[in-house]
Amino acid sequence: MATYSIRTSPPLRGEATIHTAKNSVLPILAAALLTGDPVAILATPQLTDVDTLCDLMRSCGCQIAWDDPAETPNVPGATLNLCARELCLPMNDDPMRRMRASILIMGPLLARLGMARVTLPGGCAIGQRPIDQHIKGMQALGAEVALHQGHIELSGRLRGGSVYLDMPSVGATENIMMAATLAQGTSRIENAAKEPEITDLAMFLNQMGARVSGAGSGTIFVQGVARLHGARYQPIPDRIEAGTLACATAIAGGNVLLRGARSEHMRALLFKLQESGVIIIEQREGLRIRGKALQPLEVRTMSYPGFPTDLQAPIMAVACFTPGTSVFLETVFENRYMHATELRRMGARIRVEDRVALIDGGSEIQGTRVISSDLRAGASLICAALGAKGETVVEDPQGHIDRGYERIEQTLSELGVPIQRL
Ligand code: EPZ
Repeated sequence: MATYSIRTSPPLRGEATIHTAKNSVLPILAAALLTGDPVAILATPQLTDVDTLCDLMRSCGCQIAWDDPAETPNVPGATLNLCARELCLPMNDDPMRRMRASILIMGPLLARLGMARVTLPGGCAIGQRPIDQHIKGMQALGAEVALHQGHIELSGRLRGGSVYLDMPSVGATENIMMAATLAQGTSRIENAAKEPEITDLAMFLNQMGARVSGAGSGTIFVQGVARLHGARYQPIPDRIEAGTLACATAIAGGNVLLRGARSEHMRALLFKLQESGVIIIEQREGLRIRGKALQPLEVRTMSYPGFPTDLQAPIMAVACFTPGTSVFLETVFENRYMHATELRRMGARIRVEDRVALIDGGSEIQGTRVISSDLRAGASLICAALGAKGETVVEDPQGHIDRGYERIEQTLSELGVPIQRL
């Protein structure tokens, strides 16, 4: 539960250090269940989604403890130490109901124990989010699957297999890749997701002794091994946090260094902002964002390397301030325009027809009280508030924003934004 009060922002100045990526840390944490050896994840972000997954993994018998940051002054963030020497099926379903990414323990449990039991993840605000591709992959590796009282129960000694995904699902690619590392024989995943987080997970698995190749291309090969060992790993920086801050700068203007941001993970967004007039400078330390977006935008979300669906809401806030008509097409999730309703309450002129949104930018955007419906919608409202006249109060009763952004109010206020967490 959180409420943010934001006033019209002066141009942003200074720098923000980009945290480690939520969508990389979550599958990497789950992968720690694949070994009984100790694992250390460096610079782990303080996010409620990380806490939720840790709760779930503890209920599977995994020991988890945070390092005291003072003990490792030269490593940013906090080190998370895990050890899944003892491993069992989840004793507590509650974390699985709270977070869809909990499904990522399915592959590791099945690979390590020969069985898994997960609750059918609830849909969420942005769509029904089925897991049929995850199941298809586990069956391709020889698992028996049964649906029992709202739980999915899987069992079997995994052997190498091949699967062609109906769509390049990020979670399904990750789950199948993890399960295949301990299967007997070689596995192939075709039409696999290509996100940087997939490549990051593969690098972590290989550091644990797995034999994964082709991650980041459309086809991934995994040669099963008998066991995996521990590893110490720092995941990649969060391209969605960096992209969100770039959108904030595109609205308020200014000159900001996103320290640690990796431009090669963000090219779709950076080209879109450059087309609209924002200046992007690649530097050794990260990315420098300068100036405002001036031209309307055409955004079509696609799986990587297309425009990321997670930045559709933040860049829609940018489109509210660029005179002219912007056209959005959301091809990944079926219901990811909830933020439009709240942006309209601020004076934005947005029409939504199914997966298309038309934004007639340049109308006066006024501060008012708005509500966050999901993680990236909340970020979008905070971005819009920077350019709005007067005070905007963003209510986040479900704490969505804290799931994916570590202390966003601190990051923004250090850039000069008049934001307060009430
Ligand atoms: C991951 O979710 C991310 N979450 C999401 O980020 C991101 O929006 C999404 O990938 C797309 O990039 C994490 O990595 C923890 P998908 P995931 O499986 O794996 C359909 C955020 O804001 N589908 O690639 O759940 C699905 O319904 C979050 O950080 C099936 O039909 O996404 C969706 O329409 C939100 N069957 C599409 O594929 C399946 O078995 C993409 O889903 C799996 C997916």
